[in-house]
Amino acid sequence: MSSSSSVASLSVEGDIGVVTLNSPPVNALSQAVRAGILENVNKAVADPAVKAIVLICEGRTFIAGADITEFGKPRKDPPLSEAQDAIENSPKPVVAAIHGTALGGGFEVALCCHYRVAVPSAKCGLPEVKLGLLPGAGGTQRLPRIVGVERALDLLTSGQHVPAPKCLEMGLVDEIVPEGELRAGAIAFARRVLAEKRPLRKVRDTDEKMVAARGKPEIFADFRKANARKFRGFQAPENNIRCVEAAVNLPFDEGMKAERKLFEELMSGTQSAAQRYVFFAEREVWKIPDVPADTPVVAVKKVGMVGAGTMGGGIAMNFANVGIPVTLVETRPEALERGLKVVRRNYENTAKRGRLTNEQVEQRMGLLTGSLELESLADCDLVIEAVFENMEIKQDIFAKLDRIVKPGAILATNTSALNINEIGRAVKRPEGIVGMHFFSPANVMRLLEVVRGDTTSKTAIATAMQVGKKVGKIAALSGVCPGFIGNRILAARTRQAQAMLLEGAMPWDIDKVLYEFGLPMGPFAMSDLAGLDIGWSKETSKRATVREALCEMDRRGQKTGAGYYDYDESRKASPSPVTEKLVHEFMAAAGNKPREITEQEILERCVYAMINEGAKILDEGIAIRASDIDIVWINGYGWPVYRGGPMFYADTVGLQTVVSKLEEYGERMGAADSAISPLLARLAKDGKRLQDVKNG
Ligand code: 3HC
Repeated sequence: MSSSSSVASLSVEGDIGVVTLNSPPVNALSQAVRAGILENVNKAVADPAVKAIVLICEGRTFIAGADITEFGKPRKDPPLSEAQDAIENSPKPVVAAIHGTALGGGFEVALCCHYRVAVPSAKCGLPEVKLGLLPGAGGTQRLPRIVGVERALDLLTSGQHVPAPKCLEMGLVDEIVPEGELRAGAIAFARRVLAEKRPLRKVRDTDEKMVAARGKPEIFADFRKANARKFRGFQAPENNIRCVEAAVNLPFDEGMKAERKLFEELMSGTQSAAQRYVFFAEREVWKIPDVPADTPVVAVKKVGMVGAGTMGGGIAMNFANVGIPVTLVETRPEALERGLKVVRRNYENTAKRGRLTNEQVEQRMGLLTGSLELESLADCDLVIEAVFENMEIKQDIFAKLDRIVKPGAILATNTSALNINEIGRAVKRPEGIVGMHFFSPANVMRLLEVVRGDTTSKTAIATAMQVGKKVGKIAALSGVCPGFIGNRILAARTRQAQAMLLEGAMPWDIDKVLYEFGLPMGPFAMSDLAGLDIGWSKETSKRATVREALCEMDRRGQKTGAGYYDYDESRKASPSPVTEKLVHEFMAAAGNKPREITEQEILERCVYAMINEGAKILDEGIAIRASDIDIVWINGYGWPVYRGGPMFYADTVGLQTVVSKLEEYGERMGAADSAISPLLARLAKDGKRLQDVKNG
């Protein structure tokens, strides 16, 4: 016998009722799925032939969570809790059969089942914290009852996906069944439950792990303290922690009420709205309107790197990490040797931290070949150049590569500053030229800006995006302009920071405001970290800026023990009287009288200048959509994800406010930043949002 709706069905196999969900792509708990579970579980319960129930999913995964697209819209019946109650209160045992990922609400449904089985490749988790939320369907109350308080705190605040074998160890699943045999394995397990007359086990009724933690508030205090840095600025981890406190201290139903309240608090806040926006933005960023998903790509089986410096070595590691061999070319043997040594040291440090085995280190190093001849790159499918930022040198290299490297191969440049259209003029295959701008350290930072020149082919773009995905990056497409998306916006912020320095704000005043806003550091701390002498030379230095003056004094940042800040032996920064004096000298020379600059002004001038620049980038078609700009700033510069990126943030502030503030600061902002983007002005006037703008 079987009955079905479009997304859920019941089939009866002997004494087992199998409720199957089928709602691609990820069986999210939409209204139809919730209704489908409720209806079919009730049907199975009512069917006298059915003695036990298996809940299983079609497609690539078990239920991957609530349907995020329904968030923020009016709720539709039935609520998830009704479907969960039907399962948990079923007089017949219900077994969840898990493959793919049982996440969020999906795992919370599984936790209401009396038993859970999974294939070895399955993963379970409560990743709501990554959406600025907490598991709002009993997950915070049931999880600690199984795994205990410490582990629950860890899982809830990290949102990690736990592999099935580990779930078995923790008691989150009861049995692992062979890969590809989930349905049969789950049915067999259900029959065993019946044969052995196992109880209808309800997680909600198990209390011993909660009792054990009662009266020990230090567990929570210690956890908060240990993770303070990681949780800085985020609301969701704290609310998750409070839920576990409730699980420990309150009866189950009271704990559920506390969970609901804390969930609603997050759901109605801007942080979760931002994090949910970023979830979709991370998926949208791969979609390029005129480069469809089926665009032919070059199969990248071998990569060439021109330049084995910090950048080249870091980029090469990305490929070695996924098993793609790389040939690194340098001009001098010492440089090559040094480059490969740095890579080896990086891998060995990772191994020391236990994240790689020595064998893996050797395997990866074995994929890297050094060479002093560009000719060794002849059979590469993709060559990435990462040499000194000089147009003549680059054009020369690309002209040579064009002659050497096999036809059809993609030639990419890691330039962060030069016009790739000009580089394209040096070759006879301008369609194969593309920018692949990695961020330093290139083996760590997630962002890759793929830069499309006037002549770049769709295949070159699709290949660069795809290879970026393969090495674990998040790739955003940018058109050609100085600084591309990320650094162009950074330049706007730098202009404001530098301007305010000469109006009376000290570097640490400005850095503090941006740090408190949620960035990992402010512009001056960032300069000190990167080195103040990037692009500076003693010979040409004119002492025209505070930075140049600092460089001339050998205060070149952290590496020299001093820059804008003074540093102690452990690289702890403190405001520097030397810098302060220097700033006052420059102010006097410019005829400026220092004035009190409020924290509000610092924040608004820095951030609104970035927003304005972002709007210009969008208006010029350099970025496809506002959310791509946000992806760049979150992944390349540490913009706090809970503020959704500068474009999303602008929408939360209100574009009218941004525009009127820019007007108010006016000339103080300088010519480039006081010119308001026409797009921004238009949207503000029409009451529209940046995040809705799309090019193409
Ligand atoms: N709701 C709605 N759509 C979802 C979704 C969800 N929970 N999860 C994934 N999707 C969509 C994606 O947007 C994407 O759509 P697209 O093809 O139109 O771009 C499609 O499903 C496929 O997703 P991915 O590209 O991410 O596919 P992967 O195979 O790489 O990853 C996944 C699959 C691991 C399930 C990943 O999609 C994921 O992590 N999803 C979110 C899981 C999650 O956060 N669940 C908790 C939700 S909140 C909740 O449950 C609240 C509850 O406590 C009450």
